[in-house]
Amino acid sequence: MQLFPQSFHWGAATSSYQIEGAAFADGKGKCIWDTFVEQDGAIQDGTDGRVACDHYTYYRDDVKLLKELNFSHYRFSVNWARIMPDGKDRVNEAGLDFYKRLINTLNEQHITPMLTLYHWELPQQLEDEGGWLNRDTAYYFAEYAERVFREFSAEVPYWITQNEPWVASRLGYGEGVHAPGKKGLNHFLTAAHHLLLSHGLATERLRAMKQTEQQTGIALNLSSHYPADDRLSSQEAATRADGFLNRWFLDPVYKGTYPKDMLTIYEKQTDLSFLQQGDLEQIQQPIDFLGINYYSSDFVESSPVTTENPTGSKPVQTSLPKTAMEWDVYPDGLYDLLVRVTNDYGKQPLYVSENGAAYRDEVVGGEVNDEQRADYLDQHLQSCLRAIQSGVDLRGYYVWSFLDNFEWAYGLSKRFGVVHIDFTTLKRTPKQSAYWLQAFIASQRVHS
Ligand code: FCB
Repeated sequence: MQLFPQSFHWGAATSSYQIEGAAFADGKGKCIWDTFVEQDGAIQDGTDGRVACDHYTYYRDDVKLLKELNFSHYRFSVNWARIMPDGKDRVNEAGLDFYKRLINTLNEQHITPMLTLYHWELPQQLEDEGGWLNRDTAYYFAEYAERVFREFSAEVPYWITQNEPWVASRLGYGEGVHAPGKKGLNHFLTAAHHLLLSHGLATERLRAMKQTEQQTGIALNLSSHYPADDRLSSQEAATRADGFLNRWFLDPVYKGTYPKDMLTIYEKQTDLSFLQQGDLEQIQQPIDFLGINYYSSDFVESSPVTTENPTGSKPVQTSLPKTAMEWDVYPDGLYDLLVRVTNDYGKQPLYVSENGAAYRDEVVGGEVNDEQRADYLDQHLQSCLRAIQSGVDLRGYYVWSFLDNFEWAYGLSKRFGVVHIDFTTLKRTPKQSAYWLQAFIASQRVHS
């Protein structure tokens, strides 16, 4: 059997709002998701994350479970509003204490923490001042990042600034389906720019403070885009779709530029005056790794440019198997992506910082037989292994998600966990896919 490197991270991933609950406990401030879930119709099944998995109470049991399942690493996010209820100035010690307890528990169990500073929990106070449309938010983020780093850098070796700035800006400010529910192309691009700027500002500060052992990076949601057929228009649509999702974020981070073709497209439709002198240099900071969140890929063709579709490209229906999100299962897209990022942006440490699938799981006789998820994970891990064999410096894989949780606009009904949560009793039941992973990880450990 071909093995993964012995230092490979076998990780599980979660985020604060999605699992913690305790939305108003111990001095936590309101974040934009606390507000968004109160709006009529914002969440498909009418649920919210007020309690979620109540990880805030059960974190010790959850860490124990991570250990039992053989995970070596755990990626989680800290909630800005729990630590700084107004987003700036005042620190809530009780909030810091919760994360201190969590991190200590992880380290006691020899599970290495990877901490995400922003997984979309913007303090409502900052949203009231304009949120990510306000340039100042990027500077407040850098202050907050520095405060958290000062507190935890001795115990946490892996740091992620922003999680999926495309989702935060596009779905939150462009399409209005995520918090804070704003719309428009200009809002999307402005928010995206400030999120990227916040990454650059925070990375510069963390690098100035760090000792050799801490690594900093960013997690981007990336996909492969293929032309749906051999028409030239489909090929061009695939290039635009790639520019929209991937290059608009990768280029500034790695090259200190926005892609020219996309600038031309956007300039025709809106003004880009948010971009100030020196911003792109600020965004292009050296990073130690890139986190890639991969779920699916798209086969696209050309379509008319509209307000909702600024790039004039749309995915076509395929005959590929689908998850409960209706996302295509396409593991080759992950292989292609890992190779492509390496070729286009240089060989560097990569992590698959999220990968997984939602299925309609049920507990039957105390068990969840989610064979489809185990297959999904197996196929994507095979893509990872192939990428390593092709020379990609892939250093770890974090399954999304450790626990079933609050899946944003879909609510509690889309289950991504390898551990089932009964949201009434909060009982945790590892699914068959968790036991499959447990055995897979064990099979990779060679004792010398
Ligand atoms: C990603 C998010 C994560 C989760 C998965 C399914 O976009 O980072 O919080 O919602 O999708």
